[in-house]
Amino acid sequence: MRMESMPIWACLIVAFAAFLPGSYAFPFGAPTQVCGSLTPLGHTFRGHTSDPNLGYTLQANPTTISPGDNVSIQVPGTLRGLVMQVRPSLDGNAIGNWQTPNAGFKFLECFDNGQSTVTHSNSNDKDGASFTWTAPGGSCQSATYFVRATVLQSFASFQEDVVLQLRCVEPSPQTPPPQTLPPPPQTILPPILPPTPEVLPFVPPGGGNLCRFSSLTSVPASGYRTSFETEDFGGWINTGVRQWQRNRGQTQSYSTGPNGAFDGDFYAYFDASSPAQPGDRAVLETSPNLRGCFCFQFSASMFVSRRNPPHRLFVELGNEVLNIPIRDDANWVQRSLQIDSDEFTAIRIVGERGVDWMGDVAIDQLRVTPGSCP
Ligand SMILES: *[C@@H]1O[C@H](CO)[C@@H](O)[C@H](O)[C@H]1NC(C)=O
Repeated sequence: MRMESMPIWACLIVAFAAFLPGSYAFPFGAPTQVCGSLTPLGHTFRGHTSDPNLGYTLQANPTTISPGDNVSIQVPGTLRGLVMQVRPSLDGNAIGNWQTPNAGFKFLECFDNGQSTVTHSNSNDKDGASFTWTAPGGSCQSATYFVRATVLQSFASFQEDVVLQLRCVEPSPQTPPPQTLPPPPQTILPPILPPTPEVLPFVPPGGGNLCRFSSLTSVPASGYRTSFETEDFGGWINTGVRQWQRNRGQTQSYSTGPNGAFDGDFYAYFDASSPAQPGDRAVLETSPNLRGCFCFQFSASMFVSRRNPPHRLFVELGNEVLNIPIRDDANWVQRSLQIDSDEFTAIRIVGERGVDWMGDVAIDQLRVTPGSCP
């Protein structure tokens, strides 16, 4: 097939072009994959997998560093291309800055930093590669930094997870705090036990029960239960500028949403791609007929870009807002929210688009049960 003869660098250049700000020519595909996983996946790469036996290694001098230090990093051997970053953990964001690469290589913008990543700029075979990387200033972001690369020998042959560890030591006890991005908002929602298929019976409060308004408890028999297997959404209504949509399997934007439903075949997601604009919200809302002591349980997948501001998923109860932290993967997380209200209230699940179109916010298996959360 003709695409199969397309050289690897051409594929990567297409993928990287899609990552440039304002470029929507290739909204589906490799950009987040390349920056996040360093996997040169694209449609033309189906069937090609990483070959751990190509024997590529990384060399660094020095291997013990302090914040702000320069490190010389080499990739010996004949190679055609690479994508390389330094991370504070194997799966963390790229940190530090590469210095201007030699001929045949260039910067790739990842994680909002134009010098966080290096890659090749042409298709020639290269006799090794040599770079200088400058560690972030301030304090060490972790005790071990990981230089992580995918090295391309040819179109069909590449080696992922070529890794070298650097040790980071503090220069002195009196260093200013590290220049890190703020952590994602923390939720106060505790993780829940595996879901049970049955509606939990209303348990009257005993001593130590957090619910003060158990005697007022009113939850419709339907319990707003839905796994989005049917069109009716279990009584939840879309009330936002954007819609929560039913979907099965992956979302349309390849590799930026869950891989499938948490429960059953379907789930609901907020597609952050155009026409959605930054700040647009998709809102799924119950009727305001919930009162007393009840538990709201749901699952969420937040495989989204961290470009600031990122997409948000939060639950609103009157004026209370509870954020669900974003993640770097497609995994589902289960949450339960204990509610105790003396007034009738509605639950609103809000997905809000951040600056980036990449990444879809997904929810599944919603239910409201009277009484305390299990
Ligand atoms: C790192 O290299 C740059 C560019 O050569 C230089 O300006 C800087 O002073 C170096 N930093 C250290 C800590 O050696």
